[in-house]
Amino acid sequence: MITDDAGLKLVRYDAAETLRHAEEIQAVYLAAHLPQQDNPWYSPAKFWERLEDLYAPIPDFELVAGWRDDRMVGYAFGTPYRRPQDVRNKAVHVFAEVAAEPVDAPVYIFREFAVHPDHQGQGYARIIHNALLSERPERLAYLLVRVGNPARSMYESWGWRGIGQDQPFSDSPVMDEMAKQLD
Ligand SMILES: CC(C)(COP(=O)(O)OP(=O)(O)OC[C@H]1O[C@@H](n2cnc3c(N)ncnc32)[C@H](O)[C@@H]1OP(=O)(O)O)[C@@H](O)C(=O)NCCC(=O)NCCS
Repeated sequence: MITDDAGLKLVRYDAAETLRHAEEIQAVYLAAHLPQQDNPWYSPAKFWERLEDLYAPIPDFELVAGWRDDRMVGYAFGTPYRRPQDVRNKAVHVFAEVAAEPVDAPVYIFREFAVHPDHQGQGYARIIHNALLSERPERLAYLLVRVGNPARSMYESWGWRGIGQDQPFSDSPVMDEMAKQLD
C-alpha cells in the first residue's frame, strides 16, 4: 500500500521486500545511530543480523518506509510478540483496561525505528509510527528503548507508558519497556 502524507511517500514491505532494501535501511540506521557506534550492538552489521535472522522470519513481519523523491528517509518495523502474557502482566499496572482482556490476547512489538538525521524534526517519525500501528489488529503494543534515549519522551507524548526494564540480549543495553493501547 502506498499513501502520500506531508510530502512523504509511505511504502509497506513484507519480510522478503524488506531484505531487498538492505542497503537503504542500513544507511538510515547508521546515520541515525552514529553517536552509538562505540557499542557493537549498534553496528549496522549487528542490526542487520538481528533483522534478517530473528525478526524477518516471524510471520506477519512488516516494515513501513518513508521516501522523499528516491531517498529512504525513515523506517519502522514490527511483528506480533511471542510472549504477550509477560507484557500484559506488566502493562496491567499502568493500563487498568488490560485486566478485562484475555491474558493471552496478542501483543504487537514495535521493534526498531529511525529517521535519517537530515530529515529529523519534520514530523516524519510520527507519520511512520502511526502508519505501522494503524492497521494492527492487536489492542496492545510493546517496545524497548535504550535507557536515557531522548526518544522516550516522544513515545510518552504519543501515549506510550513505561512498564518496566529489560536487557533482551546479553550484549544489548538495558532498555526501558513501554506499552501503548491501540485504537
Ligand atoms: C527518534 C526519531 C525516530 C525521531 O525522528 P523525527 O522524525 O525527528 O521525529 P518527529 O519530527 O516526527 O518528532 C516526533 C516527536 O518527538 C519530538 N522530538 C523529536 N526529537 C526529540 C528529541 N530529541 N527529544 C524530545 N522530543 C523529540 C517532536 O517534538 C515530536 O513531537 P510531536 O509528535 O508531539 O509533534 C529520530 O530522532 C531517530 O531516528 N533517532 C535515532 C534512533 C532512535 O532513537 N530510534 C528510536 C528508539 S528505538
